[in-house]
Amino acid sequence: MSPAPATPDLRVSVAGIDLKNPVIAASGTFGYGVEFEDIVHLDRLGGLVAKGLSREPMTGNPPPRLYETAAGMLNAIGLQNIGAQAFLDEKLPALRARKNVVVFANIFGYTRADYERTIEILNQGDGIAAYELNVSCPNTAHGGIQFGTDPHSLDEVVRGAKRVAARPLIVKLSPNVTSIALMARVAEDAGADAVSLVNTFLAMAIDAETRRPRIANVTAGLSGPAVKPIALRMVYEAARAVKIPVIGMGGIVAPVDVVEFMLAGASAVQVGTASYYDPVATERLVEELTEYCREHRIERLRDLTGGLLTD
Ligand SMILES: Cc1cc2nc3c(=O)[nH]c(=O)nc-3n(C[C@H](O)[C@H](O)[C@H](O)COP(=O)(O)O)c2cc1C
Repeated sequence: MSPAPATPDLRVSVAGIDLKNPVIAASGTFGYGVEFEDIVHLDRLGGLVAKGLSREPMTGNPPPRLYETAAGMLNAIGLQNIGAQAFLDEKLPALRARKNVVVFANIFGYTRADYERTIEILNQGDGIAAYELNVSCPNTAHGGIQFGTDPHSLDEVVRGAKRVAARPLIVKLSPNVTSIALMARVAEDAGADAVSLVNTFLAMAIDAETRRPRIANVTAGLSGPAVKPIALRMVYEAARAVKIPVIGMGGIVAPVDVVEFMLAGASAVQVGTASYYDPVATERLVEELTEYCREHRIERLRDLTGGLLTD
């Protein structure tokens, strides 16, 4: 047997962006990045996705907004954020001061114009590698149906965003659909440079004693290890449907999870809920992934992408 490679090559590339490894902190679970800089070496991560940004600041939903479930977590934060302009003024300069930190800006809106205006604001700032479009939002101009669950709305919002975006565009797909392959193709045809999935699954929890919902919003999004097998299946189906890179996520906590998502077709991964029970989970994962590759004699991690054997 050949000796284990001293330093496995963890580098990957998505949407034309080179990352030192495939581990990216997921939106909404890592603040704006700067809040983690005292406990996580941000430059050791593949990258980080800032909390979802809108054209105006938002206060989010009333509490309770989080609830732990079997192997997972429910959240209905309601996309609380400081707004795109405040992100440029108050958060981005600190991130820019850190060398070798790849920052993605996650964007949402309730109309197509909201998305485009938010992108136009962010186009003015330096130090953002790409935009990630969160399409799991109700389209108020079309009866409140989520952009990401209606092919026509998805096509429209991605086309509009691509037209104004000065940076590569990643479309973060909603898993609350019948055919993820169809939605991935719609995003690709509309100009997406990559797709990321999954966002949270619509879910709820009830307190039988009080007969009340556990979350004030009643329904919420489920994430964490509970969703991993479904997320893997969706990444597999999406990756087979498109030529653009796929960024996979949903319940990743260990290096073997990263490897599984890559075998299913992901070029990179994101880690969300894990940061809630271990705030340094993202950096730990990078270290453990290096060790995993050494032990398994994986010289170039990116060679795993799409490597699932099915016969
Ligand atoms: C508390 C919380 C807040 C989130 N906020 C956002 C957000 O602002 N934008 C977004 O696109 N996804 C958001 N997500 C979804 C995550 O980025 C990720 O897609 C999902 O949690 C699945 O990954 P995980 O199982 O590793 O957490 C949020 C998730 C959680 C748990």
